[in-house]
Amino acid sequence: MFRLTAVATLLLASFASQAGPFTIKTTSTIADNADTLILLVGPEQLNTNPQLAAISQQENFTAKHAKTLTWLSPAAPYAQFKRVVLMGTGEPEKLSAYQASLLGAAAARSLKDSAASNIQLDASMIDPAIGQAEFLAQFSHGVDLSSYTFDRYLSDKKTAPERNLFLLSSNKKATDERLVQLNALSEGVALARDLINEPASGIYPETFVQQALALRKLGAKVTVMDEKALEKAGMGAILAVGRGSARPPRLLLVHWEGSKQQPVAVVGKGITFDTGGYNLKTQADSIFRMTSDMAGAAAVLGTMHTLVKQQAPVNVIGVMALAENMISDRAYLPGDIVRAGNGKTIEIINTDAEGRLVLADALWHVETQYKPRAIVDIATLTGSKVTAVGNYYAGLFSNDETLVTQLTQAGEKVHERVWRLPLSDDMLPELKSMKADLRNTGRSTGASTAALFLNQFVNDTPFAHLDIAGNALSDSSKGLHTEGGTGFGVRLLTEWVLTTQ
Ligand code: BES
Ligand code: MN
Ligand code: ZN
Repeated sequence: MFRLTAVATLLLASFASQAGPFTIKTTSTIADNADTLILLVGPEQLNTNPQLAAISQQENFTAKHAKTLTWLSPAAPYAQFKRVVLMGTGEPEKLSAYQASLLGAAAARSLKDSAASNIQLDASMIDPAIGQAEFLAQFSHGVDLSSYTFDRYLSDKKTAPERNLFLLSSNKKATDERLVQLNALSEGVALARDLINEPASGIYPETFVQQALALRKLGAKVTVMDEKALEKAGMGAILAVGRGSARPPRLLLVHWEGSKQQPVAVVGKGITFDTGGYNLKTQADSIFRMTSDMAGAAAVLGTMHTLVKQQAPVNVIGVMALAENMISDRAYLPGDIVRAGNGKTIEIINTDAEGRLVLADALWHVETQYKPRAIVDIATLTGSKVTAVGNYYAGLFSNDETLVTQLTQAGEKVHERVWRLPLSDDMLPELKSMKADLRNTGRSTGASTAALFLNQFVNDTPFAHLDIAGNALSDSSKGLHTEGGTGFGVRLLTEWVLTTQ
Protein backbone atom coordinates (compact mmCIF):
# COMPACT_ATOMS: atom_id res chain seq x y z
CA MET A 1 0.00 0.00 0.00
CA PHE A 2 1.33 3.37 -0.97
CA ARG A 3 -0.94 5.32 1.24
CA LEU A 4 0.65 7.45 3.91
CA THR A 5 -1.37 5.81 6.62
CA ALA A 6 1.28 5.94 9.30
CA VAL A 7 2.13 9.56 8.64
CA ALA A 8 -1.47 10.65 8.59
CA THR A 9 -2.17 8.79 11.79
CA LEU A 10 0.74 10.45 13.49
CA LEU A 11 -0.35 13.88 12.37
CA LEU A 12 -3.88 13.35 13.50
CA ALA A 13 -3.02 11.98 16.89
CA SER A 14 -2.52 15.55 18.06
CA PHE A 15 -5.84 17.23 17.30
CA ALA A 16 -6.02 20.02 19.80
CA SER A 17 -9.10 20.13 21.90
CA GLN A 18 -8.31 23.55 23.36
CA ALA A 19 -10.20 26.11 21.34
CA GLY A 20 -8.65 29.48 20.50
CA PRO A 21 -5.61 31.57 21.46
CA PHE A 22 -7.19 33.20 24.51
CA THR A 23 -6.59 32.02 28.04
CA ILE A 24 -9.76 33.00 29.82
CA LYS A 25 -10.03 33.50 33.57
CA THR A 26 -12.49 35.12 35.92
CA THR A 27 -11.42 37.89 38.31
CA SER A 28 -13.28 39.63 41.09
CA THR A 29 -11.41 42.93 40.61
CA ILE A 30 -9.77 44.63 37.60
CA ALA A 31 -6.48 42.81 36.90
CA ASP A 32 -3.42 44.94 37.78
CA ASN A 33 -1.56 44.00 34.62
CA ALA A 34 -4.47 44.65 32.21
CA ASP A 35 -3.39 46.80 29.25
CA THR A 36 -6.79 46.80 27.60
CA LEU A 37 -10.27 47.32 28.94
CA ILE A 38 -13.36 46.17 27.12
CA LEU A 39 -16.21 48.14 28.58
CA LEU A 40 -19.68 46.94 27.70
CA VAL A 41 -22.33 49.64 27.45
CA GLY A 42 -25.90 50.04 26.33
CA PRO A 43 -27.39 53.37 25.19
CA GLU A 44 -28.58 54.10 28.75
CA GLN A 45 -25.15 53.65 30.29
CA LEU A 46 -23.67 56.13 27.83
CA ASN A 47 -26.10 58.80 28.99
CA THR A 48 -25.43 58.32 32.68
CA ASN A 49 -21.67 58.76 32.36
CA PRO A 50 -20.72 62.27 31.08
CA GLN A 51 -17.23 61.28 30.05
CA LEU A 52 -18.43 58.34 27.95
CA ALA A 53 -21.29 60.43 26.60
CA ALA A 54 -18.89 63.10 25.38
CA ILE A 55 -16.49 60.75 23.62
CA SER A 56 -19.34 58.76 22.10
CA GLN A 57 -21.03 61.83 20.74
CA GLN A 58 -17.78 62.99 19.21
CA GLU A 59 -17.35 59.63 17.42
CA ASN A 60 -21.02 58.92 16.60
CA PHE A 61 -20.98 55.86 18.82
CA THR A 62 -24.49 54.81 19.83
CA ALA A 63 -23.86 51.52 21.70
CA LYS A 64 -25.57 49.42 19.04
CA HIS A 65 -25.06 45.67 19.50
CA ALA A 66 -21.44 44.65 18.78
CA LYS A 67 -20.34 48.10 17.58
CA THR A 68 -17.00 49.15 19.02
CA LEU A 69 -15.12 52.38 19.65
CA THR A 70 -11.45 52.18 20.55
CA TRP A 71 -10.13 54.92 22.80
CA LEU A 72 -6.33 55.07 22.87
CA SER A 73 -4.37 56.52 25.82
CA PRO A 74 -7.56 57.14 27.75
CA ALA A 75 -7.87 59.74 30.48
CA ALA A 76 -8.65 59.07 34.15
CA PRO A 77 -10.23 56.98 35.55
CA TYR A 78 -9.02 54.70 32.74
CA ALA A 79 -5.44 55.94 32.60
CA GLN A 80 -4.01 52.59 33.74
CA PHE A 81 -4.95 51.09 30.35
CA LYS A 82 -3.32 51.60 26.97
CA ARG A 83 -6.70 51.33 25.30
CA VAL A 84 -10.35 51.14 26.17
CA VAL A 85 -12.65 49.37 23.76
CA LEU A 86 -16.19 50.58 24.24
CA MET A 87 -18.50 47.87 23.03
CA GLY A 88 -22.19 48.39 22.49
CA THR A 89 -24.66 45.78 23.69
CA GLY A 90 -27.89 47.29 22.38
CA GLU A 91 -30.61 47.00 25.03
CA PRO A 92 -28.68 44.96 27.63
CA GLU A 93 -31.82 43.56 29.31
CA LYS A 94 -32.83 41.96 26.02
CA LEU A 95 -29.53 40.18 25.34
CA SER A 96 -29.95 36.48 24.57
CA ALA A 97 -27.26 33.86 25.17
CA TYR A 98 -26.56 33.84 21.44
CA GLN A 99 -26.22 37.64 21.31
CA ALA A 100 -23.82 37.48 24.25
CA SER A 101 -21.67 35.02 22.31
CA LEU A 102 -21.78 37.31 19.27
CA LEU A 103 -20.35 40.12 21.44
CA GLY A 104 -17.46 37.82 22.34
CA ALA A 105 -16.90 37.04 18.67
CA ALA A 106 -16.91 40.74 17.77
CA ALA A 107 -14.50 41.53 20.60
CA ALA A 108 -12.06 38.80 19.52
CA ARG A 109 -12.17 40.02 15.92
CA SER A 110 -11.63 43.64 16.89
CA LEU A 111 -8.54 42.67 18.92
CA LYS A 112 -7.12 40.38 16.25
CA ASP A 113 -4.43 42.73 14.99
CA SER A 114 -4.02 44.87 18.09
CA ALA A 115 -1.11 44.75 20.51
CA ALA A 116 -3.43 44.02 23.42
CA SER A 117 -2.23 41.10 25.47
CA ASN A 118 -3.88 41.33 28.88
CA ILE A 119 -7.48 42.14 28.33
CA GLN A 120 -10.00 42.93 31.02
CA LEU A 121 -13.67 42.57 30.24
CA ASP A 122 -15.90 44.77 32.35
CA ALA A 123 -19.61 44.02 31.98
CA SER A 124 -20.53 45.42 35.37
CA MET A 125 -22.40 48.41 33.92
CA ILE A 126 -24.99 46.20 32.25
CA ASP A 127 -27.52 43.86 33.81
CA PRO A 128 -28.45 41.19 31.25
CA ALA A 129 -31.61 39.17 31.88
CA ILE A 130 -29.71 35.89 31.37
CA GLY A 131 -27.60 36.76 34.42
CA GLN A 132 -23.97 37.82 34.63
CA ALA A 133 -22.45 34.33 34.95
CA GLU A 134 -24.27 33.05 31.88
CA PHE A 135 -23.48 36.24 30.00
CA LEU A 136 -19.74 36.04 30.69
CA ALA A 137 -19.55 32.34 29.82
CA GLN A 138 -21.43 32.88 26.53
CA PHE A 139 -19.18 35.84 25.74
CA SER A 140 -16.08 33.67 26.15
CA HIS A 141 -17.73 30.89 24.08
CA GLY A 142 -18.02 33.44 21.27
CA VAL A 143 -14.39 34.46 21.72
CA ASP A 144 -13.26 30.85 21.39
CA LEU A 145 -15.46 29.90 18.44
CA SER A 146 -14.60 32.97 16.38
CA SER A 147 -10.84 32.68 16.91
CA TYR A 148 -10.66 29.04 15.77
CA THR A 149 -8.00 28.39 13.11
CA PHE A 150 -6.98 25.34 11.08
CA ASP A 151 -3.28 25.80 10.39
CA ARG A 152 -1.78 22.32 10.62
CA TYR A 153 -0.62 22.39 7.00
CA LEU A 154 0.54 26.02 6.90
CA SER A 155 4.32 26.42 6.87
CA ASP A 156 3.97 30.01 7.90
CA LYS A 157 1.66 29.63 10.86
CA LYS A 158 0.45 33.11 11.64
CA THR A 159 0.17 31.95 15.20
CA ALA A 160 -1.98 34.38 17.10
CA PRO A 161 -0.13 35.67 20.17
CA GLU A 162 -1.10 34.12 23.50
CA ARG A 163 -3.52 36.42 25.23
CA ASN A 164 -5.22 36.60 28.56
CA LEU A 165 -8.82 37.56 28.84
CA PHE A 166 -10.02 38.37 32.35
CA LEU A 167 -13.74 38.29 33.01
CA LEU A 168 -14.76 40.61 35.81
CA SER A 169 -17.31 38.68 37.80
CA SER A 170 -19.27 39.35 40.96
CA ASN A 171 -19.90 35.61 41.32
CA LYS A 172 -16.72 33.79 40.44
CA LYS A 173 -18.01 30.36 41.38
CA ALA A 174 -21.14 30.49 39.22
CA THR A 175 -19.20 31.98 36.32
CA ASP A 176 -16.47 29.33 36.53
CA GLU A 177 -19.04 26.55 36.56
CA ARG A 178 -20.66 27.79 33.36
CA LEU A 179 -17.25 28.45 31.81
CA VAL A 180 -16.23 24.83 32.28
CA GLN A 181 -19.43 23.66 30.59
CA LEU A 182 -19.20 26.05 27.67
CA ASN A 183 -15.48 25.35 27.22
CA ALA A 184 -16.40 21.73 26.69
CA LEU A 185 -18.88 22.89 24.06
CA SER A 186 -16.28 25.09 22.33
CA GLU A 187 -13.94 22.09 22.25
CA GLY A 188 -16.67 19.91 20.76
CA VAL A 189 -17.26 22.45 17.98
CA ALA A 190 -13.51 22.81 17.36
CA LEU A 191 -13.16 19.02 17.13
CA ALA A 192 -15.97 18.84 14.55
CA ARG A 193 -14.38 21.68 12.56
CA ASP A 194 -10.98 19.96 12.65
CA LEU A 195 -12.51 16.75 11.33
CA ILE A 196 -14.33 18.59 8.53
CA ASN A 197 -11.35 20.75 7.56
CA GLU A 198 -8.98 17.80 7.46
CA PRO A 199 -8.80 16.49 3.88
CA ALA A 200 -9.83 12.95 2.94
CA SER A 201 -6.16 11.86 2.88
CA GLY A 202 -6.07 12.40 6.64
CA ILE A 203 -9.60 11.54 7.75
CA TYR A 204 -11.03 8.24 6.55
CA PRO A 205 -13.03 5.70 8.52
CA GLU A 206 -10.11 4.23 10.49
CA THR A 207 -8.56 7.60 11.40
CA PHE A 208 -11.95 9.05 12.27
CA VAL A 209 -12.38 6.17 14.71
CA GLN A 210 -9.06 7.01 16.36
CA GLN A 211 -10.33 10.48 17.18
CA ALA A 212 -13.09 8.92 19.29
CA LEU A 213 -10.87 6.65 21.37
CA ALA A 214 -9.78 9.48 23.68
CA LEU A 215 -13.32 9.49 25.10
CA ARG A 216 -12.70 6.08 26.68
CA LYS A 217 -10.39 7.66 29.23
CA LEU A 218 -13.21 9.97 30.26
CA GLY A 219 -15.56 7.08 30.90
CA ALA A 220 -17.41 6.61 27.59
CA LYS A 221 -17.86 3.20 26.02
CA VAL A 222 -16.49 3.23 22.47
CA THR A 223 -17.41 0.35 20.14
CA VAL A 224 -16.00 -0.06 16.63
CA MET A 225 -17.54 -2.42 14.09
CA ASP A 226 -15.12 -3.26 11.28
CA GLU A 227 -15.99 -4.89 7.92
CA LYS A 228 -16.09 -8.35 9.48
CA ALA A 229 -18.45 -7.28 12.24
CA LEU A 230 -20.64 -5.43 9.72
CA GLU A 231 -20.71 -8.54 7.53
CA LYS A 232 -21.68 -10.69 10.47
CA ALA A 233 -24.50 -8.34 11.43
CA GLY A 234 -25.72 -8.38 7.82
CA MET A 235 -25.28 -4.64 7.21
CA GLY A 236 -25.02 -4.89 3.44
CA ALA A 237 -25.91 -1.26 2.78
CA ILE A 238 -22.94 0.41 4.51
CA LEU A 239 -20.71 -2.38 3.19
CA ALA A 240 -21.85 -1.71 -0.40
CA VAL A 241 -21.03 2.00 -0.14
CA GLY A 242 -17.60 1.33 1.39
CA ARG A 243 -16.65 -1.52 -0.93
CA GLY A 244 -15.02 0.59 -3.62
CA SER A 245 -12.45 2.07 -1.28
CA ALA A 246 -9.14 0.71 -0.01
CA ARG A 247 -10.13 2.35 3.26
CA PRO A 248 -12.80 0.06 4.69
CA PRO A 249 -16.01 1.27 6.34
CA ARG A 250 -16.66 1.39 10.07
CA LEU A 251 -19.66 1.79 12.33
CA LEU A 252 -18.55 3.75 15.38
CA LEU A 253 -20.58 3.90 18.58
CA VAL A 254 -19.87 6.11 21.57
CA HIS A 255 -22.09 5.48 24.57
CA TRP A 256 -22.15 7.94 27.47
CA GLU A 257 -24.26 6.59 30.31
CA GLY A 258 -24.38 9.61 32.60
CA SER A 259 -27.84 8.61 33.82
CA LYS A 260 -29.87 5.43 34.10
CA GLN A 261 -32.71 6.78 31.97
CA GLN A 262 -33.61 5.13 28.68
CA PRO A 263 -31.06 6.53 26.21
CA VAL A 264 -31.45 8.86 23.24
CA ALA A 265 -29.47 8.23 20.05
CA VAL A 266 -27.82 10.67 17.66
CA VAL A 267 -26.70 9.22 14.34
CA GLY A 268 -24.33 10.92 11.87
CA LYS A 269 -23.54 10.45 8.18
CA GLY A 270 -19.79 10.00 7.90
CA ILE A 271 -18.87 9.81 4.22
CA THR A 272 -15.22 10.81 4.51
CA PHE A 273 -15.24 11.56 0.79
CA ASP A 274 -18.13 11.43 -1.64
CA THR A 275 -16.96 11.11 -5.24
CA GLY A 276 -20.50 10.07 -6.15
CA GLY A 277 -19.20 6.63 -7.06
CA TYR A 278 -19.94 5.52 -10.65
CA ASN A 279 -22.56 8.28 -10.73
CA LEU A 280 -19.53 10.50 -10.47
CA LYS A 281 -19.88 14.10 -9.37
CA THR A 282 -18.80 16.00 -12.46
CA GLN A 283 -18.79 19.59 -11.25
CA ALA A 284 -15.42 20.64 -9.91
CA ASP A 285 -16.78 22.84 -7.16
CA SER A 286 -19.32 20.27 -5.98
CA ILE A 287 -16.92 17.31 -5.77
CA PHE A 288 -14.33 19.55 -4.10
CA ARG A 289 -16.63 20.23 -1.18
CA MET A 290 -17.18 16.56 -0.47
CA THR A 291 -14.39 16.35 2.10
CA SER A 292 -17.15 17.77 4.30
CA ASP A 293 -19.56 14.90 3.67
CA MET A 294 -18.76 13.53 7.12
CA ALA A 295 -20.00 16.68 8.84
CA GLY A 296 -22.95 14.81 10.36
CA ALA A 297 -20.63 12.29 11.99
CA ALA A 298 -18.32 15.14 13.04
CA ALA A 299 -21.29 16.87 14.71
CA VAL A 300 -22.13 13.64 16.54
CA LEU A 301 -18.56 13.16 17.77
CA GLY A 302 -18.33 16.85 18.77
CA THR A 303 -21.58 16.45 20.71
CA MET A 304 -20.34 13.31 22.44
CA HIS A 305 -17.03 15.03 23.27
CA THR A 306 -18.96 17.89 24.86
CA LEU A 307 -21.32 15.74 26.91
CA VAL A 308 -18.59 13.38 28.08
CA LYS A 309 -16.29 16.27 28.98
CA GLN A 310 -19.16 17.85 30.92
CA GLN A 311 -19.88 14.47 32.52
CA ALA A 312 -23.47 15.41 31.76
CA PRO A 313 -26.29 13.56 33.58
CA VAL A 314 -27.67 12.11 30.35
CA ASN A 315 -27.77 8.70 28.70
CA VAL A 316 -26.86 9.11 25.04
CA ILE A 317 -25.47 7.00 22.22
CA GLY A 318 -23.62 8.59 19.32
CA VAL A 319 -23.49 6.50 16.16
CA MET A 320 -21.26 7.38 13.22
CA ALA A 321 -21.64 5.58 9.89
CA LEU A 322 -18.23 5.90 8.24
CA ALA A 323 -17.38 5.02 4.64
CA GLU A 324 -15.62 6.47 1.61
CA ASN A 325 -17.69 6.53 -1.61
CA MET A 326 -15.18 5.67 -4.33
CA ILE A 327 -14.81 4.24 -7.80
CA SER A 328 -12.87 0.99 -8.32
CA ASP A 329 -13.28 -2.49 -9.77
CA ARG A 330 -14.96 -3.52 -6.52
CA ALA A 331 -17.22 -0.51 -6.14
CA TYR A 332 -20.98 -0.94 -6.03
CA LEU A 333 -22.77 -0.25 -9.27
CA PRO A 334 -26.01 1.30 -10.40
CA GLY A 335 -28.49 -1.56 -10.65
CA ASP A 336 -26.96 -3.56 -7.80
CA ILE A 337 -29.39 -4.90 -5.23
CA VAL A 338 -28.10 -4.84 -1.66
CA ARG A 339 -29.62 -6.20 1.53
CA ALA A 340 -29.64 -3.92 4.57
CA GLY A 341 -29.31 -5.06 8.17
CA ASN A 342 -33.08 -5.13 8.68
CA GLY A 343 -33.42 -7.58 5.79
CA LYS A 344 -34.89 -5.12 3.28
CA THR A 345 -33.46 -5.22 -0.24
CA ILE A 346 -32.54 -1.95 -1.97
CA GLU A 347 -32.08 -1.37 -5.68
CA ILE A 348 -29.23 1.06 -6.26
CA ILE A 349 -30.55 3.58 -8.76
CA ASN A 350 -27.78 6.08 -8.11
CA THR A 351 -24.47 5.45 -6.31
CA ASP A 352 -24.40 9.12 -5.34
CA ALA A 353 -27.37 8.57 -3.01
CA GLU A 354 -24.99 6.83 -0.61
CA GLY A 355 -25.64 8.71 2.64
CA ARG A 356 -29.10 7.20 3.16
CA LEU A 357 -27.61 3.73 2.67
CA VAL A 358 -25.00 3.99 5.41
CA LEU A 359 -27.57 5.66 7.68
CA ALA A 360 -30.14 2.91 7.01
CA ASP A 361 -27.91 0.32 8.66
CA ALA A 362 -26.87 2.67 11.47
CA LEU A 363 -30.49 3.56 12.34
CA TRP A 364 -31.59 -0.07 12.33
CA HIS A 365 -28.60 -1.12 14.45
CA VAL A 366 -29.06 1.51 17.14
CA GLU A 367 -32.82 0.99 17.37
CA THR A 368 -32.60 -2.79 17.72
CA GLN A 369 -29.51 -2.90 19.95
CA TYR A 370 -30.22 -0.01 22.35
CA LYS A 371 -34.01 0.58 22.25
CA PRO A 372 -33.56 4.36 22.52
CA ARG A 373 -36.53 6.57 23.40
CA ALA A 374 -35.72 8.89 20.47
CA ILE A 375 -33.40 8.86 17.46
CA VAL A 376 -32.15 11.97 15.66
CA ASP A 377 -29.88 11.67 12.64
CA ILE A 378 -27.81 14.44 11.11
CA ALA A 379 -26.45 14.31 7.57
CA THR A 380 -25.22 16.31 4.60
CA LEU A 381 -27.82 14.40 2.65
CA THR A 382 -29.19 16.25 -0.37
CA GLY A 383 -28.49 19.11 -2.75
CA SER A 384 -32.23 19.68 -2.92
CA LYS A 385 -32.26 20.74 0.74
CA VAL A 386 -29.72 23.47 -0.15
CA THR A 387 -31.98 24.63 -2.97
CA ALA A 388 -34.94 24.77 -0.58
CA VAL A 389 -33.53 26.59 2.46
CA GLY A 390 -29.85 27.28 1.69
CA ASN A 391 -27.58 27.42 4.69
CA TYR A 392 -29.99 29.54 6.73
CA TYR A 393 -31.62 26.49 8.26
CA ALA A 394 -31.13 22.78 8.57
CA GLY A 395 -33.96 20.75 7.09
CA LEU A 396 -36.01 19.00 9.78
CA PHE A 397 -38.08 15.94 8.87
CA SER A 398 -40.15 14.27 11.55
CA ASN A 399 -43.66 13.12 12.35
CA ASP A 400 -43.13 13.27 16.07
CA GLU A 401 -44.51 16.62 17.21
CA THR A 402 -42.58 16.52 20.49
CA LEU A 403 -39.27 16.10 18.66
CA VAL A 404 -40.19 18.84 16.20
CA THR A 405 -40.89 21.25 19.06
CA GLN A 406 -37.78 20.28 21.01
CA LEU A 407 -35.43 20.55 18.03
CA THR A 408 -36.96 23.81 16.84
CA GLN A 409 -36.56 25.37 20.29
CA ALA A 410 -33.02 24.05 20.73
CA GLY A 411 -32.11 25.43 17.30
CA GLU A 412 -33.49 28.89 18.13
CA LYS A 413 -31.66 28.95 21.45
CA VAL A 414 -28.18 28.25 20.01
CA HIS A 415 -28.91 29.84 16.63
CA GLU A 416 -28.49 26.62 14.66
CA ARG A 417 -31.99 26.85 13.32
CA VAL A 418 -34.11 24.18 11.69
CA TRP A 419 -37.01 24.45 9.26
CA ARG A 420 -39.56 21.67 8.99
CA LEU A 421 -40.04 20.03 5.60
CA PRO A 422 -42.41 17.19 4.69
CA LEU A 423 -41.95 13.59 5.76
CA SER A 424 -44.95 11.93 4.18
CA ASP A 425 -45.98 8.38 3.30
CA ASP A 426 -47.78 9.89 0.31
CA MET A 427 -44.38 9.81 -1.36
CA LEU A 428 -43.76 6.11 -0.69
CA PRO A 429 -44.67 5.04 -4.25
CA GLU A 430 -41.60 7.00 -5.39
CA LEU A 431 -39.41 4.55 -3.48
CA LYS A 432 -41.07 1.42 -4.91
CA SER A 433 -38.88 -0.82 -7.02
CA MET A 434 -39.93 -3.55 -9.39
CA LYS A 435 -37.05 -5.79 -8.33
CA ALA A 436 -36.40 -4.95 -4.69
CA ASP A 437 -38.19 -3.73 -1.57
CA LEU A 438 -36.98 -0.17 -2.08
CA ARG A 439 -35.05 1.99 -4.52
CA ASN A 440 -32.45 4.36 -3.14
CA THR A 441 -33.77 7.49 -4.85
CA GLY A 442 -37.16 9.05 -5.33
CA ARG A 443 -38.47 10.32 -8.62
CA SER A 444 -39.61 13.89 -8.00
CA THR A 445 -38.56 15.32 -4.64
CA GLY A 446 -35.01 15.09 -3.30
CA ALA A 447 -34.77 15.92 0.38
CA SER A 448 -38.17 14.54 1.40
CA THR A 449 -37.86 11.18 -0.33
CA ALA A 450 -34.39 10.82 1.19
CA ALA A 451 -35.93 11.39 4.63
CA LEU A 452 -38.73 8.95 3.84
CA PHE A 453 -36.14 6.36 2.80
CA LEU A 454 -34.42 6.73 6.21
CA ASN A 455 -37.77 6.41 7.93
CA GLN A 456 -38.14 2.88 6.48
CA PHE A 457 -35.31 1.77 8.75
CA VAL A 458 -36.82 2.97 12.01
CA ASN A 459 -39.73 0.93 13.35
CA ASP A 460 -41.55 2.64 16.19
CA THR A 461 -39.06 4.95 17.89
CA PRO A 462 -39.74 8.72 17.72
CA PHE A 463 -37.46 9.79 14.89
CA ALA A 464 -36.20 13.04 13.35
CA HIS A 465 -33.83 13.62 10.46
CA LEU A 466 -31.72 16.78 10.09
CA ASP A 467 -30.40 17.52 6.60
CA ILE A 468 -27.38 19.82 7.06
CA ALA A 469 -26.21 19.97 3.44
CA GLY A 470 -24.99 23.54 2.97
CA ASN A 471 -24.60 24.15 6.71
CA ALA A 472 -21.34 22.23 7.08
CA LEU A 473 -19.09 24.77 5.39
CA SER A 474 -18.92 28.54 5.60
CA ASP A 475 -17.24 30.67 2.94
CA SER A 476 -16.44 33.49 5.33
CA SER A 477 -15.68 34.24 8.97
CA LYS A 478 -18.88 35.69 10.30
CA GLY A 479 -20.71 35.53 13.62
CA LEU A 480 -19.58 32.44 15.50
CA HIS A 481 -18.29 30.81 12.31
CA THR A 482 -14.88 30.82 10.73
CA GLU A 483 -14.17 30.03 7.08
CA GLY A 484 -14.38 26.28 6.38
CA GLY A 485 -16.01 23.70 8.62
CA THR A 486 -18.67 25.21 10.89
CA GLY A 487 -19.31 22.32 13.27
CA PHE A 488 -23.03 22.97 12.70
CA GLY A 489 -25.08 20.59 14.81
CA VAL A 490 -22.79 20.27 17.84
CA ARG A 491 -24.46 23.12 19.68
CA LEU A 492 -27.93 22.11 18.49
CA LEU A 493 -27.62 18.43 19.44
CA THR A 494 -25.90 19.19 22.74
CA GLU A 495 -28.71 21.59 23.67
CA TRP A 496 -31.33 19.05 22.59
CA VAL A 497 -29.79 16.15 24.53
CA LEU A 498 -29.37 18.26 27.68
CA THR A 499 -32.92 19.60 27.60
CA THR A 500 -34.69 16.39 26.63
CA GLN A 501 -33.64 14.49 29.75
N1 BES B 1 -23.37 14.50 -0.15
C1 BES B 1 -24.35 14.71 -1.15
C2 BES B 1 -25.30 15.86 -0.84
C3 BES B 1 -24.71 17.25 -0.76
C4 BES B 1 -24.84 18.13 -1.84
C5 BES B 1 -24.12 17.73 0.39
C6 BES B 1 -24.33 19.41 -1.74
C7 BES B 1 -23.61 19.02 0.47
C8 BES B 1 -23.72 19.86 -0.59
C9 BES B 1 -25.20 13.45 -1.31
O1 BES B 1 -24.54 12.25 -1.08
C10 BES B 1 -25.67 13.40 -2.73
O2 BES B 1 -24.87 13.24 -3.59
N2 BES B 1 -27.00 13.56 -2.91
C11 BES B 1 -27.59 13.55 -4.20
C12 BES B 1 -28.70 12.52 -4.20
C13 BES B 1 -29.27 12.24 -5.55
C14 BES B 1 -28.29 11.45 -6.37
C15 BES B 1 -30.57 11.48 -5.39
C16 BES B 1 -28.15 14.94 -4.47
O3 BES B 1 -28.76 15.53 -3.58
O4 BES B 1 -27.95 15.42 -5.57
MN1 MN C 1 -23.59 11.47 -2.80
ZN1 ZN D 1 -22.93 12.30 0.19
